[in-house]
Amino acid sequence: MPVFLIGFMGSGKSAVGKLLSQRSGEQFVDMDEEIEKRENRSILEIFNESGEKYFREIESQLLAEFSHLKNTLIACGGGIIEREENRNILVKNLTFYLYAPFEEIWDRIKGDSTRPLAMRRKKFVKKLYDKREPLYRATGIPIDTTGMKIEDIVNLLMKKFRYDNQR
Ligand code: S3P
Repeated sequence: MPVFLIGFMGSGKSAVGKLLSQRSGEQFVDMDEEIEKRENRSILEIFNESGEKYFREIESQLLAEFSHLKNTLIACGGGIIEREENRNILVKNLTFYLYAPFEEIWDRIKGDSTRPLAMRRKKFVKKLYDKREPLYRATGIPIDTTGMKIEDIVNLLMKKFRYDNQR
């Protein structure tokens, strides 16, 4: 079965996924990149031209499709847990939640012009974080990454879950 990485924007899902796939020899897929390829436009353009609801539809379709992939690590967009149908897929698979506290996340993503939701005010983003945090936690195995570098997170995942020989 595939392994999913979930967590808020800026939690390191893509970077961790890339490095972990190199170490474990599994394929890596970044859902946002895949959506951009299929739509032939950026996430920002999709949000601006077609709206968030449209983006969420493609995201759900892609998740359902990817849930059949074998030996693949999949980094999801931060909003994947918004929909119940998505959460139902994720809980049935091996899903890791990369947790980091809000302030750490905010320092990484504030003003990021490629992320439509990170360009909003801090208060808005904090509210989104607070709403989503329990959903991530209920959907994936929480990994506390507070203050950790990508390399350390990958080592932790490899060690804690004997990632390579277990699967
Ligand atoms: C989103 C997170 C983004 C991307 C889109 C929406 C969100 O992915 O899917 O901008 O709703 O949190 P990252 O978590 O990889 O930044």
